[in-house]
Amino acid sequence: MAKAQRIALGIDIGGSGVKGAPVDLDKGEMLLDRHKIETPQPSTPRAIGEVVAQIAEFFADDIPEDAPIGITVPGVVQRGVVRFVGNIDQEWVDYDGDTHFEQLIGRPVHLINDADAAAVAESRYGAARGRDGLVIVTTLGTGIGAGLVYDGVLIPNAELGHLIMNGEKAEARAASSAKDREDLSYEEWATGRLQPYYEYVENLLWPDLFVVGGGVSRKSDKFLPLLRLRTPIVPAELRNNAGIVGAAAVAADYAAGKKVG
Ligand code: BGC
Repeated sequence: MAKAQRIALGIDIGGSGVKGAPVDLDKGEMLLDRHKIETPQPSTPRAIGEVVAQIAEFFADDIPEDAPIGITVPGVVQRGVVRFVGNIDQEWVDYDGDTHFEQLIGRPVHLINDADAAAVAESRYGAARGRDGLVIVTTLGTGIGAGLVYDGVLIPNAELGHLIMNGEKAEARAASSAKDREDLSYEEWATGRLQPYYEYVENLLWPDLFVVGGGVSRKSDKFLPLLRLRTPIVPAELRNNAGIVGAAAVAADYAAGKKVG
């Protein structure tokens, strides 16, 4: 008999959209196009929970009845409980998303930080596959997300976008939102903002590899070659799907009793 396909649903909660798709966990690929719904405002856990339930319903015929759901959150998540959020409603703080969403949807659910999900995806299926040592996956967007993986094991909730540099939060100066807001050229952004940021992080943690994700990584050839670092730095391979794929993978591990973030 053919081996059953391992499938989980990945859902990515962002400031502007909630996106989800079923994921083939053997390949680390989405099985269908993403279904996207605008992030409700205010973006409370209850309002987003309804959107998550709609996305699960949308794919109900495409996934096994007991397929787990992995959900990314743009904030700190400890064992399924949200502890801090930046860009969504503050009602999320101390919300036990795993328990509440499981009750709402009737499937195993696991919440995880968005950059941690991306790091798991890149480490299992993408730019950091097979890499030993410390890999730091950063996502450049509204903020800076960071996911640390050491020898394939996730070290969750490294809030490296919140490092204070020259009296300011690093992400306020170096995220791609700062580039847009201040209308910086790729060169200004790379040399003036990303260079000091990655230098600071490499001197703190001495990683073996940096992987750079987030929407702007599509244009990585315009800024990564300008950086002068000791650590190799490469673009993410799963791009904007890394959150969905990684969340699905971690949720499947969780449902199988392996706690990984
Ligand atoms: C949050 C992180 C998140 C990152 C990317 C930061 O502002 O503190 O938890 O991973 O944004 O969304």
